[in-house]
Amino acid sequence: MYLGLDLGTSGLKGVLIDDAQRVVAEASAPLSISRPAEGWAEQSPADWIAAAEAVLGHLSVHGLASVRGIGLSGQMHGAVLLSASDDVLRPCILWNDTRAHIEAAALDAKPKFRALTGNIVFPGFTAPKLKWVAKHEPQIFENVAKVLLPKDYLRLWLIGDHVSEMSDAAGTSWLECGERDWSDSLLAATGLSRAQMPRLVEGSAVSGVLRPLLAERFGMGAGVVVAGGAGDNAASGIGVGVVKSGQAFVSLGTSGVLFAAHEGYNPNADSAVHTFCHALPGTWHQMGVILAATDALNWFSRLAAVDPEVLTGALGNLQAPGKTRFLPYLGGERTPLNDAAIRGAFIGLEHATDRQGATRAVLEGVTFALRDCRDALASTGTRFDSLLAVGGGSRSDYWLQAIATALNIPVSLPVSGDFGGAFGAARLGMMADTGAGAEIAAPPAISRVIEPVLALKSAFNDGHARYRAAAKAIQGLT
Ligand code: XUL
Repeated sequence: MYLGLDLGTSGLKGVLIDDAQRVVAEASAPLSISRPAEGWAEQSPADWIAAAEAVLGHLSVHGLASVRGIGLSGQMHGAVLLSASDDVLRPCILWNDTRAHIEAAALDAKPKFRALTGNIVFPGFTAPKLKWVAKHEPQIFENVAKVLLPKDYLRLWLIGDHVSEMSDAAGTSWLECGERDWSDSLLAATGLSRAQMPRLVEGSAVSGVLRPLLAERFGMGAGVVVAGGAGDNAASGIGVGVVKSGQAFVSLGTSGVLFAAHEGYNPNADSAVHTFCHALPGTWHQMGVILAATDALNWFSRLAAVDPEVLTGALGNLQAPGKTRFLPYLGGERTPLNDAAIRGAFIGLEHATDRQGATRAVLEGVTFALRDCRDALASTGTRFDSLLAVGGGSRSDYWLQAIATALNIPVSLPVSGDFGGAFGAARLGMMADTGAGAEIAAPPAISRVIEPVLALKSAFNDGHARYRAAAKAIQGLT
């Protein structure tokens, strides 16, 4: 059997699969975010370990003696700062924390960052966070012996070694994505050196072996390998079999992601598209990232005091976008705006706007933001001819119909089951143990294909044009 552990932002999830990749058991433990100041988002790494202990404890009831490999997936970009004795120096600054926007702009202004990493230095990425710490918490910065990404801190606990892999390292702004190696020059620009970075492996390679103490505690045998694993999006790509050019998925989670696989390295930082290494050697992926997808729906659900499922369940068939527009920039935006300061808006409210109309506007707003991502990917020459939907938001047919119509592509829904980061991580655990590659990352069976609603295509084109105009109009207002 193989175990995948996905360290998400709102919880840690474990999936156990057998040799035929059937899911044998799942368990999860919730995590909370602390927001000590506006735009800040932090978690305590000790909470991740406690969550992993709880998940492994639950799974061990099923018997873990035949586990041969573990794979890790995780929220990207976070900065875990460790002392020389591996003590955590401050809470982890998360991917959706925008405090380092000034530092990010300063690094991004140095041409070598875009040139070597293939990406804009976004405020949520790791390097600007270290610049912020150097400026605001210099005594902590001086004691930084290692900088780890969230899942790699979990790995330190599992194997006792500092290791990362290409897909997650690509989101630090320190990796030369084409070369798949740390850049000494970019590290130096942040006041750091290679010695403070973990060793790098490919996602499907062995990063180390489970510590005997933990193997014994959770009923596993000796020599369980821990794969490099992947950042959560690349791990989901492995989970849904998006590993080759022309394949893509849309993830409607806390954040929203439009992800396409690539066999070549083809960056275009100016489009605000992310070009990262994939979890398999010699492959890359591109993605457009929006910071609030289900987060936007959840925000509105709190405001309306009605569950998100109840809100979306009341919508009926897809309708043409009305006058009301919602701009989902609750915590700034990445693709295509690269604007940490922009905030969301409702535009075109009128007396007749009711809860259903506002819910539709929220779903449409996220949909139009994903269409922006599609356009940004297209500007780099990336095209895809299939699109799978994953994540909590894909339970809403209304939302998927809107996406299919706005992006003009059929959206395939996998059969029920989890094909997210934890499942992809378990596959990477299997690859590390067996030496297998992309051939074991097959696409899932499809339960339904949601076609674009042709009669509404031009209304959605028009809605998107008005959305773009509104986004432009509110930039700089907040
Ligand atoms: C990707 C990103 C998010 C996080 C969420 O660049 O920031 O998808 O990985 O977990």
